[in-house]
Amino acid sequence: MIINPKGGSGKSTVSCNLAGYYSNAGKKVTLLDMDPQKSSLSWLRNRPAESTFIRGLSAIRESDFNETEDGYLILDTPAAVAKNIIPEIIAKADTLIIPVLPSPIDIQAARIFIYQLLLKHRITSADLNIAVVANRVRSNTLAYKTLNDFINTLNIPFITSLHENSVYLKTAEKGLSIFDFNNKLTRKLSDDWNPLISWLSETEARKKIISSSNKAQSQNN
Ligand SMILES: Nc1ncnc2c1ncn2[C@@H]1O[C@H](COP(=O)(O)OP(=O)(O)O)[C@@H](O)[C@H]1O
Ligand SMILES: [Mg+2]
Repeated sequence: MIINPKGGSGKSTVSCNLAGYYSNAGKKVTLLDMDPQKSSLSWLRNRPAESTFIRGLSAIRESDFNETEDGYLILDTPAAVAKNIIPEIIAKADTLIIPVLPSPIDIQAARIFIYQLLLKHRITSADLNIAVVANRVRSNTLAYKTLNDFINTLNIPFITSLHENSVYLKTAEKGLSIFDFNNKLTRKLSDDWNPLISWLSETEARKKIISSSNKAQSQNN
């Protein structure tokens, strides 16, 4: 689940590019767009027929969570996620990715959101894998340093920084991700994504170990 109550932080960009990454890696991918603006689904509508297939959904159905056991379900969320449904939708997710822009207003909004998650909803990184990703980063700006310092005060991994680049907008207009290309620029941009993709596969491996040890335990009982 890609979540941050602040609009424009990159939720849809991260959702669509992750969907593009996994589908190009040969995985079964469903992109669930919970935002009434439906930007991920309109991205998907523009996706060329010859590109790797990504299934699109506009509403949560319980069965979709079971169906995707052998694949990836990517949830793009709206800016205004009603506070009372946060725990309910988060309960369905294995992993939360919070994209944050390195601007003072965005950092402050993320600070409030993350504290709410951790304190009010008693979500800990033990229950759920949570990671912060900085987005639209222009290296070494003061705002980036502030974001970095803030994230380091939380008990949440700060996985990577995605750089500001107009390629994200240009590819998005065509229903494509940076992973649908293999050129010097997209390879350079994809370096930013490698830590996130590695972290996701580590969390996946951890989850498999936990679920198989739970299974073994229940068989022993
Ligand atoms: N790393 C980036 N570099 C350049 N433009 C970006 C980047 N990430 C997002 N954008 C652009 O910023 C705008 C908002 O991003 P979007 O993913 O739609 O945010 P959200 O879904 O959180 O509202 C879009 O026009 C998108 O193309
Ligand atoms: Mg969006």
